[in-house]
Amino acid sequence: MKTRITELFSIEHPIVQGGMHYVGFAEMAAAVSNAGGLGVVTGLTQKTPAGLADEIARCRDMTDKPFGVNLTFLPALQAPDYPGYVKAIVDGGVKIVETAGNNPQQVLPSLKDAGVRVIHKCTSVRHALKAQSIGCDAVSVDGFECGGHPGEDDIPNMILLPRAADELDIPFVASGGMADARSLVAALALGADGMNMATRFIATREAPVHDNVKQALLNATERDTRLIMRPLRNTERVLNNGAVEAILEKEREIGAAIAIDDIVEEVGGVYPRVMQQGETDAGAWSCGMVAGLVHDIPTVKELIDRIVAEAEAIVRRRLEGFLAA
Ligand SMILES: Cc1cc2nc3c(=O)[nH]c(=O)nc-3n(C[C@H](O)[C@H](O)[C@H](O)COP(=O)(O)O)c2cc1C
Repeated sequence: MKTRITELFSIEHPIVQGGMHYVGFAEMAAAVSNAGGLGVVTGLTQKTPAGLADEIARCRDMTDKPFGVNLTFLPALQAPDYPGYVKAIVDGGVKIVETAGNNPQQVLPSLKDAGVRVIHKCTSVRHALKAQSIGCDAVSVDGFECGGHPGEDDIPNMILLPRAADELDIPFVASGGMADARSLVAALALGADGMNMATRFIATREAPVHDNVKQALLNATERDTRLIMRPLRNTERVLNNGAVEAILEKEREIGAAIAIDDIVEEVGGVYPRVMQQGETDAGAWSCGMVAGLVHDIPTVKELIDRIVAEAEAIVRRRLEGFLAA
C-alpha cells in the first residue's frame, strides 16, 4: 500500500508502532521496522539521554530501515532533560520523532532544524489542528479506545477519525483499537493514511517483555480495561487487576480531593516490575480495549504480513464484491 504516511516516512506498509514505556526497546522497534512498518523506541524508558543514545545505536545495529523515537510530555514531579534527549535523537541520526502527551512546541525548532519529521499523537481534533499549525508533519489521532492516555473528551475513533479527516491537511494515522486488517481498512475508509498500533504489538514474539504480560493480553477481553486517574485529569486506560480496583476504590472514597500521592503505591515504578519481572498485578499498566482482539503471539513480521495480505483481500474481494452485487 502506498499512502501519504508510507511516503512521508519511507516505509513499506502504513503501520506505525506507538511508543510504549518499557516495551519500546530496540528489539521492538527494529522488529517492526524490519517488517516494513515504522518501529519506535520509547525515549523516556531510557533514564538518561546517554541511555537513549545507546538504545538508538543498538536499534541501528538491528535494522537498516527507518525507525523513530517517542518523546512523551506527561505531568512529572521533575521534568526530564528534554533538550538532552533531543540531542541524543539528532546526534543518533534518527529522522522521525513521535511526540505525545502535551504540545511539542518546546522541541520542534531543534528537531526541524535537524530535518527530523515529527508525528504528534493527540486525542482531539483541536489538538491535531494545533499540531498542524505549529509545523508537525503528521499526527496520530488517538481515539477513546486506546491504551494509555485517551484524554478527557471520550470520542471514539468512529467519530474522531472522520472529524480529523474533515479538518486536517497533514497526513494522519488512526490510533487506538487497531489490531488487524479490518482495523487498517476501516482506518483508511474513515480518512486516515495508516494506523498506529501499540497493545497489539506487545503480544508478539519479539516484544521484549515477560511472557506473563503476553498471556495477560491473550486472556483479556474487550471488557477488561478500566479508566483510572480521571479525577486528576490524567485519565489512563489500563488492564484491570487488584491494584486498579484499589485505585478506583480510593477515587470513589476520596473524590475530587484525590492527589497522585494517594495512589503512588499502585502507579509508581510499576512498569519494570510488570514488563520485565512479569508481575502483572504489581500496579496499573496501560492496555487498550483491543486486547479483546488479541488471540495469538505471532512474530512481528507474521503479524504485519497477515494484516497487509488480509487488508488487500478485504478491499479486492469483500468491498469490491458489494459494488458488483
Ligand atoms: C504498555 C503501554 C505503554 C505505553 N506507553 C506510552 C508512552 O510511554 N508514551 C506514549 O506516547 N504512549 C504510550 N502508550 C500509548 C500508545 O503509544 C498508543 O497511543 C495507544 O496504546 C494506542 O492504542 P492501542 O493500545 O489500542 O493500540 C502506551 C501504551 C501501552 C499499551
